[in-house]
Amino acid sequence: MSAEDTVSDAAGAISPDRFVDISYDEVIPNNVALGSDKQLQRALEGWRPKYLDWWTGMGPVGFQQSEVYLRTAVGVDPAGWAKFGYVKMPTYRWGILLAPKVEGRTIPFGRHKGEPAWQEVPGEHRALLRRLIVVQGDTEPASVEQQRFLGATAPSLYDMRNLFQVNVEEGRHLWAMVYLLVKYFGKDGREEAQALLERQSGQMDNPRILGAFNESTPDWLSFFMFTFFTDRDGKMQLAALAESGFDPLSRTCRFMLTEEAHHMFVGETGVQRTIEATCAAMVKAGIKDPNEVEAVRKLGVVDLPLLQRKANFHASVTRDLFGSEISSNAAEAFGSGIKGRFNEVNLKGDDHVLQEATYPVTRFVDGKLVVEDAPALRALNSRLLDDFIVDCQGGIDRWNKSVEKVGIDFKFVQPHKGFNRRIGELGGKRISPTGEVLTEDQWNAMSGAWLPNDEDMEFIRSLMKPCHEPGKYASWIAPPRVGVNSQAGDFEYVKIA
Ligand SMILES: [Fe+2]
Ligand SMILES: [Fe+2]
Repeated sequence: MSAEDTVSDAAGAISPDRFVDISYDEVIPNNVALGSDKQLQRALEGWRPKYLDWWTGMGPVGFQQSEVYLRTAVGVDPAGWAKFGYVKMPTYRWGILLAPKVEGRTIPFGRHKGEPAWQEVPGEHRALLRRLIVVQGDTEPASVEQQRFLGATAPSLYDMRNLFQVNVEEGRHLWAMVYLLVKYFGKDGREEAQALLERQSGQMDNPRILGAFNESTPDWLSFFMFTFFTDRDGKMQLAALAESGFDPLSRTCRFMLTEEAHHMFVGETGVQRTIEATCAAMVKAGIKDPNEVEAVRKLGVVDLPLLQRKANFHASVTRDLFGSEISSNAAEAFGSGIKGRFNEVNLKGDDHVLQEATYPVTRFVDGKLVVEDAPALRALNSRLLDDFIVDCQGGIDRWNKSVEKVGIDFKFVQPHKGFNRRIGELGGKRISPTGEVLTEDQWNAMSGAWLPNDEDMEFIRSLMKPCHEPGKYASWIAPPRVGVNSQAGDFEYVKIA
C-alpha cells in the first residue's frame, strides 16, 4: 500500500500540521495524503471557511445545533465508511476519499483505449474534463439548497435524519469535485471551486447549471421522488465518469457511488412507505377503487393516482438532465477517454471505440415517433438515458409489489420517454405517457391528469405536518422495516436542540 492509500482519520497518524491552525488529517478524513500536500492545503485553507459559510447560510434551515445520528465516511474500506454517531451538522467531517488505486489500470474506451490511465490531467482534454467536473460538482450543493426547508416538516425523526444524511453527503460530493479542481486545475480550478459556492439553486442572476437543480423541492413527497429519480441521474453520470481514463476522477466517482446508493434507497423506500400507508388505510376503510380519490384523501394519505402523477413529473424532468440524445460533446468526451458508458468495462460485444457501431434512437420525424439507428458515438446520451430508465424500473416493480400484496388494482408505470420533455429530440413535443403524439389542444385538455396540478400540490402541502416524536410517523407514511444501523423503532435519530 502506497502512502497515498493510507487512510487517515482522527485516531490515525500524527499529521505534520498538528501544531498549526488546523490539523487537516483530523478535520478532513482523507486518503490523499492531505497532511503532507502543502499546495492542496493552501487551496483548501481558502475554500473551507467559505464552504462552512455556505453550509450554514444555504444548507438545512434549523436543526444545525441539533445532534443528528449520522454516518461519517472516514475511510474507503467497509470498516471506515460507515461510522455512526451523533454529530452537529456544521461540525460534520467532510472528507476527501478516493476508491483504492487499481495498479496497471488502462483507459477502457475511446481513442486512447489500452493506454495507461492518466494520473495527471491530459493537456489536450483539459477544458472538457474541467467542464464535466464543474457540471457534476454544481449538482451537489444545488440539491442541498433545494432541500433546505424540509427539516421543519419531517414526517419522523428517522426521515429527518435521512434527509440530513443525504445533505451532508451531497456536501461531501462537492468536496470530492473541489478536490479534483484545486488539486489538478491550478488557478482555474480554484476559481471554479469558488463559483460552485456562488451559484444558487433557483436564483435568477446566478442559477445552478442544470434545469432540474433549479426546481424547488417543496415537500417530502418531492424529496423522495427527487432522490429516487434525480439522484439516480447522479448515479448514472458518476458511473460513466467512474470509467474515465483520468484516474483520480474515476477513483473519486467510484467512492461517491457508494453514497449515492443510499440516496436512492431513501427515495425508493420513502415512496414505498407512502404507498404502504395509503394501501393500509384503504384496506382498513374498505376502499377497493384507487380512483376514489376524495375518500382516500380524507384518510390522510396520498392517493395512488397522485403518486403516479408525481412520478411522471420527476421522471420527465430528470430525463432532461441527460441532454440531447444526439450529441457531439458526448462523442468527444467518449472519444477522448474522459467519460465512458454505464458499466463500460463489463460491456461485451463491441470494441469500446464505437467508430462503426450504431444505436437506436427515438426521434420525432414528420409528426411521428420513429426509431432510427444513429452512430453509437453520437448517441451516447440516448444510451445513458435508456440505461437510466431500465435502472428506475427495479424500484417501480417493488412499489407495485406493495400494491399487489393488498389486492388493490393499480400499477405504477414509467411514462414514455417523450412525455413532458423540454430538452433533446423530443423536447417540446406533445406526447402522452403511453407514447401517443398529441395536438396542443389534446395536451392542454389532458396534461392535468398526467402531471400534479395545483390542487394536488395543495393537498400534499396539507399533509406536511411535522412528526418529531421518537418512533412516531405522520399519517401518510409507514414506518421503515429496519432502523438505521439496526436501531430500535423508538430510537431518537435527531436530538432537536
Ligand atoms: Fe451527489
Ligand atoms: Fe445524491
